[in-house]
Amino acid sequence: MNSLASLDVAGKRVFLRCDLNVPLKNGEITDDGRIRASLPTIKNLLERGASLVIGAHLGRPKGEVKPELSLAPVAKRLEELLNEPVDFITSGTSKVLLLENLRFNAAETSKDDSERKIFAQELAKNIDAYVGDGFGAVHRKHASVYDLPGLLPNAPGFLIQAEVEVLKKLTDSPVRPYGVVLGGAKVSDKIGVISNLLSKVDVMAIGGGMVFTFLAATGKEIGSSLVEADLIPTVKELIETAHNKGVTLILPTDIVVAREFKIDSQPTLVNADNIPSDQMGLDIGPESAGVFANEIKKCKTLFWNGPMGVFEFPNFAHGTKVIAQALTEVDGISVVGGGDSAAAVRALGFNDSDFGYISTGGGASLEYLEGKVLPGLQALGL
Ligand code: 3PG
Ligand code: MG
Repeated sequence: MNSLASLDVAGKRVFLRCDLNVPLKNGEITDDGRIRASLPTIKNLLERGASLVIGAHLGRPKGEVKPELSLAPVAKRLEELLNEPVDFITSGTSKVLLLENLRFNAAETSKDDSERKIFAQELAKNIDAYVGDGFGAVHRKHASVYDLPGLLPNAPGFLIQAEVEVLKKLTDSPVRPYGVVLGGAKVSDKIGVISNLLSKVDVMAIGGGMVFTFLAATGKEIGSSLVEADLIPTVKELIETAHNKGVTLILPTDIVVAREFKIDSQPTLVNADNIPSDQMGLDIGPESAGVFANEIKKCKTLFWNGPMGVFEFPNFAHGTKVIAQALTEVDGISVVGGGDSAAAVRALGFNDSDFGYISTGGGASLEYLEGKVLPGLQALGL
């Protein structure tokens, strides 16, 4: 296996792919976890005398130059954290150059192999070696993640190594009971994951915006809650599969609702089968949070991805807080996966050290747990 330690980098120009896709609000970084997670590899390469060209993405600009998705704020924050100058976009005198959002170029994410390859060849110009450390993006078959490492001597960075080591423990022979808690907004993003994980886990609890499609699939009125109506038949099948496989599938029994999606909306607690037609669910209720927490604490292996409610609004953060607290009490391995979930636990006042591990990748870690081949890992020989 290629390793960072054995990659010849002294005096070389190294392309380092990082996942610096951090949450921004009004141009300010609200959680710099992914930047901090990239520092050990950056420092190691600099100490060994390499100069770095860092490539990363921000959001999904879909091949268009979108000023609000510029990596400029990230360059500034990286400079502060590294305590050394970082050139942005154009090479200057610094040992570190951060390129602009690679996704401003449509070829980065193109489904056309030859388009991606041409872009990768451009990125490889004047570069001696490649280090892949953007774990959060390794499930993407993108030019800088998948094609570029194939053109250069390469190795995984410390972050990718650490992530894979932890996730291996969850896939190889998880200590049971093995539970997964899923939240977040979109069921469509997670259908495949849920379906595959149902043959691996003992317990699955579902909250967040996507739970309303589940509640709708069980025939409940969901008011004006978020729903992916076209997925209701698929979700019905998932519920059936869980039942057939003997997986304990837990859905909330009470919901915190409000009339509008607003930070100062008045919260009302209702039964999950009694959501008023003019109200939307914005968090799981305290009874559900208690049930979820109990199940979590019984698990010896627990993976959590996706907030339970709109944790950014204090009135709708309770469910996420209770779940995070329960994870800190797991007697075994507890893993928080994903940029949003990691940001949520930090925003709610938890420390990274309260959990077994905080993964920087949501989609990436879920696909790893499903047993999929991840292009960005494959390209690094992992
Ligand atoms: C993430 O935030 O999940 C990663 O940076 C990957 O981003 P993507 O889902 O837009 O590919
Ligand atoms: Mg994401």
